[in-house]
Amino acid sequence: MVHAAPETTDAGAVAPGAAPVCNRFVAGDNLDVLRTLPDAAYDVVYLDPPYNTGHEFAYLDDVRDPVTGRAGRHTAWTAMMRPRLEEARRVTAERGVVLVSIDDHEVAHLRLLLDEVWGEDNLLAQLVVNLNPKGRQLGSGFATSHEYLLVYARDAATCVLDASTPDTVDPADFPRTTDDGRRHRLLPLRNTNKKFNPVTAPTLHYPLHGDPVSGRVSAVPFDGAVEVLPVFGDGTPAVWRWSAPLVEQRPDDLLCRVVAGRRGERVDVYQRDWLHPGRRKKLRTVWLAEEVGSTDTAVAELKDLVGHIFESPKPTGLLRRALATMPPDARVLDPFAGSGTTGHAVALLNAADGGSRTCLSIDRDEPVRPGSRAAGAGLATVADVTRLRLRAVAERVGGGYVEGLPAPVDAPVVE
Ligand SMILES: C[S@@+](CC[C@H](N)C(=O)[O-])C[C@H]1O[C@@H](n2cnc3c(N)ncnc32)[C@H](O)[C@@H]1O
Repeated sequence: MVHAAPETTDAGAVAPGAAPVCNRFVAGDNLDVLRTLPDAAYDVVYLDPPYNTGHEFAYLDDVRDPVTGRAGRHTAWTAMMRPRLEEARRVTAERGVVLVSIDDHEVAHLRLLLDEVWGEDNLLAQLVVNLNPKGRQLGSGFATSHEYLLVYARDAATCVLDASTPDTVDPADFPRTTDDGRRHRLLPLRNTNKKFNPVTAPTLHYPLHGDPVSGRVSAVPFDGAVEVLPVFGDGTPAVWRWSAPLVEQRPDDLLCRVVAGRRGERVDVYQRDWLHPGRRKKLRTVWLAEEVGSTDTAVAELKDLVGHIFESPKPTGLLRRALATMPPDARVLDPFAGSGTTGHAVALLNAADGGSRTCLSIDRDEPVRPGSRAAGAGLATVADVTRLRLRAVAERVGGGYVEGLPAPVDAPVVE
């Protein structure tokens, strides 16, 4: 059942010209709520469903088959997730993505389910997230220190996700400096991938002309230049990465030098790869706790804001990194909001970069488990956990908070 917005909150449309409220929350079963949302209305859908571990959190984390019990748990979990993933796909924009957190309990089933519902051609990555750097020390066996984030595009051809970041660019990777102080590194201009060779890319196998004393490179001969052909380390013919016209357009980005190779000294051509402002680096598929935070730092963030009221929050750093791969006006949806980490991350990112992201969080009025942190804090339902944090986020970080479903697009504007 979807709960109507309380009278004290603003569930209406936003007046023309007014900035949209950053954080919105709806209490209810996410499948019911998802079914009320318009097609293609969200750019980023983040799902952090119960992992089906059987562990005791504030919420139920044990999806069972009514007949077979724990034995049929994978089938029951998949049956719970399938319609939610279908609805998530329907509400995702053509440019958008879904990101799903999961651990070893259901990752295999989830991957197959996502391949089926979202399309295996739309898989962008299965990221490993190192949320427990010390490793889980309880029980026997390996000390598990990671979980996963599965990332699928709504349509890989139109998706706008940029899998790079300025945050991991290390100036130490750019050890050289030009006389006028510009830092850079040298990359071989030769294509080092053997798939590209004079047979597969004949137009890129041509002679360049370079002077290893001055460093000058040109596609046409000049005084003092020697002819340089691209070769692999074993001397077999290779190809350049740049066409001859590009070489002529960007001579300052190239350098000719003598190098010691396997077969003695030779003259080769390099690209100067600059450390310029705004430089980005491709995100690796392993996300370390020192980069995105851990479950411990997530608890510390929650404690600092509203107290330790939830056992398994995600660190905002994980969500901030994921959200930063999408445009700064992204419309974000989190149907398994829990303690509201996604809404918190959205507000923090907007405050940091001036973005206009919005976030709709959903969690249900499931009574909290007796003995849980939330129960100890006097909260009745998991929805109360989400509310408490998102209200605190609005107060501390800004962006505002409203409760209730967004007004339909063609609804009259509330002035
Ligand atoms: C793993 S927790 C999410 C934690 C969250 N990402 C955070 O950082 O705090 C899963 C959440 O999904 C909620 N949930 C489970 N089934 C749901 C459903 N059918 N509808 C709405 N919420 C649901 C649970 O109440 C729980 O809060």
